[in-house]
Amino acid sequence: MNHLLSIDDLDRAALDELHTLAESFLEVTGREIPKVPALRGKVVVSLFYEDSTRTRLSFETAAKRLSADVMTFAVGSSSVKKGESLRDTIQTIAAMGIDAVVVRHPSAGAAHQLARWVDASVVNAGDGRHEHPTQALLDTLTIRRHRGPAIDGLRVAIVGDVRNSRVARSDVKALALLGAEVTLVAPDTLLPPSLAGWPCTATHDLESVLGDVDVLMLLRIQRERAAEASFPSLREFTARWGLTVDRAARLGPGTLVMHPGPMNRGVEIAPEVADGPRSLIAEQVHNGVAIRMAVLWKLLSGGSGGGMVA
Ligand code: NCD
Repeated sequence: MNHLLSIDDLDRAALDELHTLAESFLEVTGREIPKVPALRGKVVVSLFYEDSTRTRLSFETAAKRLSADVMTFAVGSSSVKKGESLRDTIQTIAAMGIDAVVVRHPSAGAAHQLARWVDASVVNAGDGRHEHPTQALLDTLTIRRHRGPAIDGLRVAIVGDVRNSRVARSDVKALALLGAEVTLVAPDTLLPPSLAGWPCTATHDLESVLGDVDVLMLLRIQRERAAEASFPSLREFTARWGLTVDRAARLGPGTLVMHPGPMNRGVEIAPEVADGPRSLIAEQVHNGVAIRMAVLWKLLSGGSGGGMVA
């Protein structure tokens, strides 16, 4: 395994292996000193061209818990402001001697492009509307920790701004790989223009799935990608597709509620539901560090291979 650019880089065995590894790193993160020397001497760069709280800090925490050295690049205080290209930027950083680069970029395909330009391992931390593979790995790990490893036939609904969501695209692929049945729930304007290549079904009707799903995943309305032009008003979106307190009360007794964050509280999810007993939102963030430790370890430790396609 050289890179993790897409869930397509993984087969079922590789996904299972990353989950198993992450489980052992969860044990490490629970120790008094949550650190192991596994990646001592390795250098990991976080290269974020879009704003991020949890993903960047999660990767950096993961790298530090494996004893790697971390370089943080912040676009706002870099030579990108002087017009430097992505290629020149990454080749400059690579010349300092790096082992992995974790990249987030507003353009779909940026991580793939980077992987052609540097020898280091590239991890896609979100490229435009395309993919966000580690989010899907942590989401599926979180589901498995509640539902057991076999999630064959588990019914998952992904609700909201699917069209602009790299999380949804990666989640659908990862869930399908594990045998879950996924339904997208959104107005037409927030569904992908075509579902060709999406191993799932779609509906406009949130009410019809409420009593019938094991997991309900909400997505943020991506205002920075002009999602608000896709429906009359936020109030109308919430009225039809928001997980309100009333709708949450009609979920099945064991239904889990997830959201990748950041949330628009009161838009796609009511604050009482986000903070309520079914919500796994904080746990998703917690599991994210262990997943990223697993990915970095797998890429950089010269681990025994096995199952990785990329
Ligand atoms: C997501 C992202 O950036 O794609 N956030 C995250 O990484 N947890 C989802 C979003 O921004 O809505």
